[in-house]
Amino acid sequence: VTGLGRVTIVGGGPGDPDLLTVRAVRALASADVVLADRLGPAWALAELAPQAVVVDVGKEPGRQPVPQAEIERLLIAHARAGLHVVRLKGGDPFVFGRGSEEVLACAAAGVAVTVVPGLSSALAAPALAGIPLTHRGLARGFTVVTGHPLPDPAVLAGYDGTIVVLMGMAALPDLVGGMLAAGFDPATPSAVIERASMHDQRTTRAAVRDLAGTCSRIGVTSPAVIVIGAVAGLGAAAAYDDELGRDPGHRLWKTMTR
Ligand SMILES: C[S@@+](CC[C@H](N)C(=O)[O-])C[C@H]1O[C@@H](n2cnc3c(N)ncnc32)[C@H](O)[C@@H]1O
Repeated sequence: VTGLGRVTIVGGGPGDPDLLTVRAVRALASADVVLADRLGPAWALAELAPQAVVVDVGKEPGRQPVPQAEIERLLIAHARAGLHVVRLKGGDPFVFGRGSEEVLACAAAGVAVTVVPGLSSALAAPALAGIPLTHRGLARGFTVVTGHPLPDPAVLAGYDGTIVVLMGMAALPDLVGGMLAAGFDPATPSAVIERASMHDQRTTRAAVRDLAGTCSRIGVTSPAVIVIGAVAGLGAAAAYDDELGRDPGHRLWKTMTR
């Protein structure tokens, strides 16, 4: 039925399908084609969209990703063929996800496109580690930045709130070095949350001056969210992980990968 196709850009959350929105689950259940990233719950698509053809366009370090222009071409071509195309992305599509470029490309091609917001790892990873981004008396706000390209460390050093860095592992030594050189307190608590919501989620905590060294010693890898600020010192992690995050996610994971 050519002409009735459409594109839904879906934020898939940090990875555990439990953290998809109801709207995201509905979109996946009605998809004819899913173009999926490496992040998010792509691993669970056999359960979430059993009727759909899944195309892996995932970006992974050391692997040739499908170029952005080709992803946009596929979205438009499948929609023009009358299909419901779901573009499944990790986290929220409009947070360092190039979702807005895909919306613009569809709109320019006259293809109907909607966006389903997702739970960004910028918010979910700290929460799943028991770290609040704001806390009365400790942080009145937060900023979310990318480590690639690296923002001006002196500007971050002057920010009065919690700093959240995505895609920041490679730049961590330069980022922290630059912040300390700009006068940032070296004893400020910090944390790195790897693979948030997955069965092997891990949190590494250190004073910011020791963070890069600690991470390289224990082999912290991407995907990971870096949190810098007094809130990273709050110690509720274990209780949060077990009661609200890791434990239910872990059980679901085991069910779906059995
Ligand atoms: C290209 S950005 C996409 C961000 C995504 N749109 C979002 O809102 O979460 C990829 C970065 O997101 C972060 N990230 C995504 N999923 C994650 C997870 N499950 N655990 C930790 N970090 C994650 C990492 O910093 C990773 O390098």
